[in-house]
Amino acid sequence: MQSTVLGIETSCDETAVAVFDSVNGLIGHRIFSQVGIHAEFGGVVPELASRDHIRKLLPLIRGTLADAGIQPSTLSAVAYTAGPGLIGALLVGATTAVGLAMAWGIPAVPVHHMEAHLLAALLEDDPPEFPFIALLVSGGHTMLVEVRGLGEYGILGQTLDDAAGEAFDKTAKLLGLPYPGGPELAALAEEGCGDHFELPRPMLKKPGLDFSFSGLKTAVMLKVREIEAAGPMTGPMRADLADAFQLAVVDTLVGKSLRAIKQTGYERLVVAGGVGANRLLRTRLAEALAAVGVRVYYPRTEFCTDNGAMVAFAGFMRMQHGARNAAMRQDSNYPYTVEARARWNLLEI
Ligand code: KG4
Ligand code: ZN
Repeated sequence: MQSTVLGIETSCDETAVAVFDSVNGLIGHRIFSQVGIHAEFGGVVPELASRDHIRKLLPLIRGTLADAGIQPSTLSAVAYTAGPGLIGALLVGATTAVGLAMAWGIPAVPVHHMEAHLLAALLEDDPPEFPFIALLVSGGHTMLVEVRGLGEYGILGQTLDDAAGEAFDKTAKLLGLPYPGGPELAALAEEGCGDHFELPRPMLKKPGLDFSFSGLKTAVMLKVREIEAAGPMTGPMRADLADAFQLAVVDTLVGKSLRAIKQTGYERLVVAGGVGANRLLRTRLAEALAAVGVRVYYPRTEFCTDNGAMVAFAGFMRMQHGARNAAMRQDSNYPYTVEARARWNLLEI
């Protein structure tokens, strides 16, 4: 039976909506980024994020349905990011999704944000088959996940402190770059030569698959202090330091991904999350994994960072899988429940 799912993402600073259809694929997706709102504060201000989601969400839903050329009566379900994320921001998406689902008489499907990220590559042509290793690298998470099938996950390793994207953002701030720092730092690094500075490759020498990035950020801070004690930091120095930092993060991510591949014997690696958009990471992973006969899969760049398409698709996959929560039991007396969790372990889905 044809199934058409509306997906809503509001876990952080992106308001995003999409429609995924089992026959026609992705038939509409829109995104509104709040970057301009948070830029002057140098980071996401949760209260401002929630308020802006309220302003943008309904018009985005209307626009996306119009793009898809469908009426609400065509929809089979409304999927929404239920966590993890900023609780106020999540609640805007969750209450809107459940309210609309009730009004339209269709199920509301809560989606785990990181599961949505790790399934995003399946939206592309020639998608990876299960099982695969997922390298999830976002602003809030860094983990290597063994994906045996939908909902069959094993966490092989994760960060003990900062996430990779968080390290990019904090280091960018140290280097005086504007928010959001990750892409800015990556762009600056392309003008520099990282060999001029030596930075540690955190956890690479230690066994296991965990990560740690806060020491690297501190190492950059110490270098900045050292440079500034001797005189003002020049533009080329800043670019060299950005490149040295990026190289250290990328080396670590590539090294641990290779280790996860060796440990499991899997032949596919899926990269997801905002840092997956990083060009150096993509080049280095391609080289390293081609050498061991492993194929790397990515979502298209715009679906590496937060988006509604991955939520609509994850909701669709969950529906197929038959995982329905109380909100969907229309044959019972259960009221629709609003699910929103700031913290939510991937293994507890
Ligand atoms: O997945 P995402 O959009 O949001 C979270 O769920 O966290 O990831 C955002 C993170 C930010 O930390 C951002 O700086 C980082 O991804 N990022 C990048 C690049 N593009 C986004 N980091 C490095 N290089 C990039 N090109
Ligand atoms: Zn995300």
